[in-house]
Amino acid sequence: MKILIVDDENISRNILLAKMADMGTCVAVDNAKEALAEIDKAKTENQPFDLITLDVSMPGMGGQELLEHIRKKEDQNKIPKKNRAKIIMITARMNLGTINACIKRGCNGYLTKPISKVQLVQSLSQLGFEPASEEQIDKESMSHSDGVAEIIKRFYTGNIILPVFPNIVKEVEELLASKDPSVDDLAKIVEKDLVISSKLITIANSSLYKGLDDVNSLNGALVRLGLKHTLGVCSALATKNLFNSDDEALKAEMDRLWIHSFAVASLARRLAEEIGLDNLETIFLMGLVHDIGKMLLMKVFVDMYPDVPINDEDLQRAIHEIHTTFGGVLLRKMHFSKQIIKIAEFHHWEQFGENTDKELLLLSLANSLARELGFLFFSEKKTPELEEGDLTLETNDEFELDHDQLIKDLSGLSALTILELDPEKVFSIIEKIHPMIKETSRAF
Ligand SMILES: [Fe+2]
Ligand SMILES: [Fe+2]
Repeated sequence: MKILIVDDENISRNILLAKMADMGTCVAVDNAKEALAEIDKAKTENQPFDLITLDVSMPGMGGQELLEHIRKKEDQNKIPKKNRAKIIMITARMNLGTINACIKRGCNGYLTKPISKVQLVQSLSQLGFEPASEEQIDKESMSHSDGVAEIIKRFYTGNIILPVFPNIVKEVEELLASKDPSVDDLAKIVEKDLVISSKLITIANSSLYKGLDDVNSLNGALVRLGLKHTLGVCSALATKNLFNSDDEALKAEMDRLWIHSFAVASLARRLAEEIGLDNLETIFLMGLVHDIGKMLLMKVFVDMYPDVPINDEDLQRAIHEIHTTFGGVLLRKMHFSKQIIKIAEFHHWEQFGENTDKELLLLSLANSLARELGFLFFSEKKTPELEEGDLTLETNDEFELDHDQLIKDLSGLSALTILELDPEKVFSIIEKIHPMIKETSRAF
């Protein structure tokens, strides 16, 4: 059997590849254009695909549109119905509207992420493909994918308590957008939240903002931080709060995810400043919450399955597979802006063009840079294969920047080229910001 896998996310592609490798010859591509090219090539070679899996949500031409294209081509080529490719849509959410639209456009089935082998084998046998041996199904029948799928189901049926993002961030945002915001007005808002206001003082004294003397009043802290930075610090304090946990193992993972998020936020804001954008604090917030889907999925998983170690490799892979779409839906429910939701949904997208939003380019770039700097969380790295020791990797205090290697890696990032950032310049920025990220992330 010949199989074509179309998914923009590296990890999802590899999961499908791994699950279907023993079912036939697989070809995997990350966008619609390449998918159409592969289909044409297969037709010319007279060896068309028997099965195609299409990810519904891809930037550019999405799965639905691609499905329509493929079916139209088969019509034009007068391929009899029974010889047409079987197409399975892969969706991240159980959205009946989308599924019905796909069925109308001629798909043969659909699967929701994270996909377990049981799910896959069942739907393939429904389509008349050879089922895998029972033994194979059994081994994976209790896989972590099923656990994560259960969480997603509960989430969509309203059975999961959503995290609360304190209102104070919005109030500060509104104040800054008003005509003549003053430090006094700001103090009035911030002092309502005792935790945030006392933390603001600590942060004003941290290496990033430190002046000659220590400040010890809220007003002193606000003056030192300035109006704009206060907004960023409030966002970070509010976000950090979501990453707390009483469970020791979970707390270790949450801390790592927090430092990763903080690094992405700080790098993105600094680079945004470099290219002259003025919505710096929004970009900072985007960085803070870009992986929020992982945060909630991990928390709920630990509640529901306390006996499964949270740093389990398969579990983290299943979480990674769904975290972008899940994060998007979560932020929507938490009433974040469309712009921020888009970042959560597409920060792992790799195909950029001149028309891609600058914010998305910056966040994707910052995500890669954070990884280069050692502020990485599971699967946020280039290769989805785990090397020994990866899961126990701590944020490395002795991390040394390798100039030549970094310049080489930077030059390969399309986001950097489109933003017209000079690799040497970026290197000098991250050289300065790197020690600050480590220290400041721990002050929150
Ligand atoms: Fe991510
Ligand atoms: Fe990330």
